[in-house]
Amino acid sequence: MPDTLRTPRPIATPLNTLIVGSRVIVYETTSSTNDCALRLGGEGTVIVAETQTAGRGRHGRSWHSAPGMGLYFSVAFERSIEGLAFAAPLAVRDAVAPFADATVKWPNDVLIGGRKFCGVLIEARQGRTAVGIGINVHHHTEDLPVELRERATSIEAATGAHCDRGELLRDVLTHLDARVIVIRSGGFDRVFSEWAEACGAVGRRVRCARCEGVVETIDRDGALIVGTARGPQRVMLGEIVELEGT
Ligand code: BTN
Repeated sequence: MPDTLRTPRPIATPLNTLIVGSRVIVYETTSSTNDCALRLGGEGTVIVAETQTAGRGRHGRSWHSAPGMGLYFSVAFERSIEGLAFAAPLAVRDAVAPFADATVKWPNDVLIGGRKFCGVLIEARQGRTAVGIGINVHHHTEDLPVELRERATSIEAATGAHCDRGELLRDVLTHLDARVIVIRSGGFDRVFSEWAEACGAVGRRVRCARCEGVVETIDRDGALIVGTARGPQRVMLGEIVELEGT
């Protein structure tokens, strides 16, 4: 079934948001929607692309951006916004709720059935911030890079349901807008607690390059406080961590 993203109006019904989606720009192809968002800016501007030639993920990885298969988009903010890394995965989780019970994996991956279908990359340049979100939507297993097939999925591969990308984009932006408004009105703690609860890292055994132990708590920056034989160690959002049982 065709979906709505390729049409001139990429969003199925008008967006009813205050900040996110103040302007929506759709490209057939771009290098990375994060680069466009950081270059163009404008509070709440959304850049969407059918495909990216240099889509990137965390830790310098590339983000597979097959045309017509996924949602690749970024939202620009003109001042730094604490808690964006928590709001974004929660918005995706809530937007896919009609299809599946998705889970958030620390720090901000979103999974269905233990497999990743969404990643979030937040970057800042000269006071401007971009939150980039990549979602695998229509992919079948064979559309995913071979090396990812064991760990990755798409909404349709995981659920068998048809998911319209235009509607999904509208719903993610709507949920993101709601949380951005909460944060901007002093509700950071609410969004942080929701995220910390959703990613369920506390009590889990973790391993990263420099330590191993059980997560005791998560601080306001999203860093894990890990109890190790050498005492508590702070593991930052940027570090690669294996969480036991995920
Ligand atoms: C990750 O899990 O490593 C983060 C992946 C983020 C991918 C998205 S796709 C839209 C935006 N543009 C990019 O170049 N990256 C993000």
